[in-house]
Amino acid sequence: MRLKTQDWCWKESTRFFFNAETQSAQRGYKMKLFVATHNQHKIREISQILPGFEIVPDDPEGVEENAPDFAGNALIKVRAIAEKHKGEWCMADDSGLEVKALGGAPGVHSARYAGEPSNTPANNALLLKNLEGVKDRAARFTCCCALVDPSGEELVVHGHCPGHIAEKAAGVEGFGYDPLFIPNGYDKSFAELSADEKNAISHRGRALEKVREIVGNGE
Ligand code: IMP
Repeated sequence: MRLKTQDWCWKESTRFFFNAETQSAQRGYKMKLFVATHNQHKIREISQILPGFEIVPDDPEGVEENAPDFAGNALIKVRAIAEKHKGEWCMADDSGLEVKALGGAPGVHSARYAGEPSNTPANNALLLKNLEGVKDRAARFTCCCALVDPSGEELVVHGHCPGHIAEKAAGVEGFGYDPLFIPNGYDKSFAELSADEKNAISHRGRALEKVREIVGNGE
């Protein structure tokens, strides 16, 4: 039975739930976590936040991410790799930037906001152009992580990071919209923060903390 897409909720029966910590302790080695991405930035962030796991990237090639929301796309990707790694933990994340004044855009289209192929400078330039003269620049990053456990059970969790879009880019760290995004409580962009500072407050960091609560420490 498939778990419904929802935030932080198990289906009623959890009797097939596997805890990676217990499992790996029994086996005596690091748990593998297959992750459906080829994005090196994401892999680095995931490895930093889940250091006890052996993160194994597996690009779900040819999969069409055509769901209307992050959870739907994360599930499409994780199901594609879980088919190949039965009996293992698998995860996919889908993430993006949602800008209030743009009705939630770029949202699920964040990677290709300025068109195909994905082009970060063009995406950032288009975002600034679309916000020219806009005073309310509130935005948030959202990350959805979809997991399949070794029994085939599915779970979806979300993490958010609220902030606003700067008038101009600043910083060289991170990737994507980082130079334009200023998290709440900061006067620096994500691209001006260290990896540790970003991970502590980022949408992905928050979603992965929930993942860690589910899968354990992996060692
Ligand atoms: P996806 O989750 O691989 O589909 O990527 C979505 C897109 O959202 C990325 O290509 C980036 O443009 C943007 N994005 C997601 N997370 C971040 C982040 O942490 N910083 C900057 N941009 C991000």
